[in-house]
Amino acid sequence: MKTMRAVWREEYCAPEKAGCKNVDIPLPGPGEVLVRVMATTVNRTDCAILTGKPFIMRFFTGFGRPKSPIPGTDFAGIVESVGEGVTAFKAGDRVWGFDDQGLATQAEYAVIPVKKAILPLPGKISFTDAAASAEGAHYAYNFLNKVKLRAGQKALVLGATGAIGSALLQFCKYHGLHVTATGPTPELKRVKALGADGVIDYLAEDFTATGETYDYVFDAVGKSTFGICKRLLVPRGIYISSEPGPGGQNIFLALWGLFRLGRRVIFPVPSNIRRSLGFVAELTAQGKFKPLIDKHYAIEKAGEAYAYAASGKKIGNIILDLE
Ligand SMILES: NC(=O)c1ccc[n+]([C@@H]2O[C@H](COP(=O)([O-])OP(=O)(O)OC[C@H]3O[C@@H](n4cnc5c(N)ncnc54)[C@H](OP(=O)(O)O)[C@@H]3O)[C@@H](O)[C@H]2O)c1
Repeated sequence: MKTMRAVWREEYCAPEKAGCKNVDIPLPGPGEVLVRVMATTVNRTDCAILTGKPFIMRFFTGFGRPKSPIPGTDFAGIVESVGEGVTAFKAGDRVWGFDDQGLATQAEYAVIPVKKAILPLPGKISFTDAAASAEGAHYAYNFLNKVKLRAGQKALVLGATGAIGSALLQFCKYHGLHVTATGPTPELKRVKALGADGVIDYLAEDFTATGETYDYVFDAVGKSTFGICKRLLVPRGIYISSEPGPGGQNIFLALWGLFRLGRRVIFPVPSNIRRSLGFVAELTAQGKFKPLIDKHYAIEKAGEAYAYAASGKKIGNIILDLE
């Protein structure tokens, strides 16, 4: 039996404990394809799956111990072989995909059920760019599909250097919004290059004290609250955050908001990954989206990659190279 390198852990563990092991290459069953993974990311969803925190994650990934010892949620690669009954893909096809409950993609090979979000990858998009266009972009898309955007509206994007924020900023610009974005001091040029009309250095300035108001405040790093941001919103302005907020308040505020017309919170429950990835591929083809990529790691350095992702300091996406 041929073997492959894979990120490996048998129990939920701290980020730096993610190891690398030689294991058997899996075989695709009926309705599955075997993908030679060329690139994958280590993202915040992976961190939750690796550590089993927040606990709610374990409803999907296993309570006592992880169902899959190999983590990984996104992938870009080449179909190696297909299982019985698969007609949509064949060996040699370039593909990419994502699943927020895990796909065991942090390995040289991964078995992907075709009922999951696996899509053809256009030849012009590199494996690295594709992997970095999945997790954050999917969540960003699921902020914006909850509201009726109109060109010319104003948005404040908090945390435009994250995986979600950097995608969100570009999607807002695609929809013709005027965007002010926050980021750390050394990265403001990069935020501007992503298309921001105005930037705020979150380390040096108070984003609530500029006197500006917005149709939307999109908190892509989940560090603010509706209470803090409410006064930045126009009378029917909308606040969306990547986190449930203290005590899960954004969920309750979103429910309360269903019955009111004023400034309100929407909680962006993500769904339909295939649709998000299709949107990203379309924007990429039009030259209107480019994922923000930070460091690359070899699979043997998975522990370091996870520790960096979990630090909350990464700039956009970090890549595990498998080519
Ligand atoms: N639980 C899950 O499954 C899950 C999955 C995905 C995302 N999320 C949540 O979504 C959020 C975003 O994740 P992500 O991967 O897109 O980004 P990320 O890795 O959390 O974002 C890191 C970037 O955000 C910047 N940043 C940190 N605090 C900031 C602030 N107060 N204002 C502006 N920028 C700030 C950091 O700058 P510095 O270098 O200055 O720190 C760094 O550039 C996180 O809160 C994460 O927990 C959760």
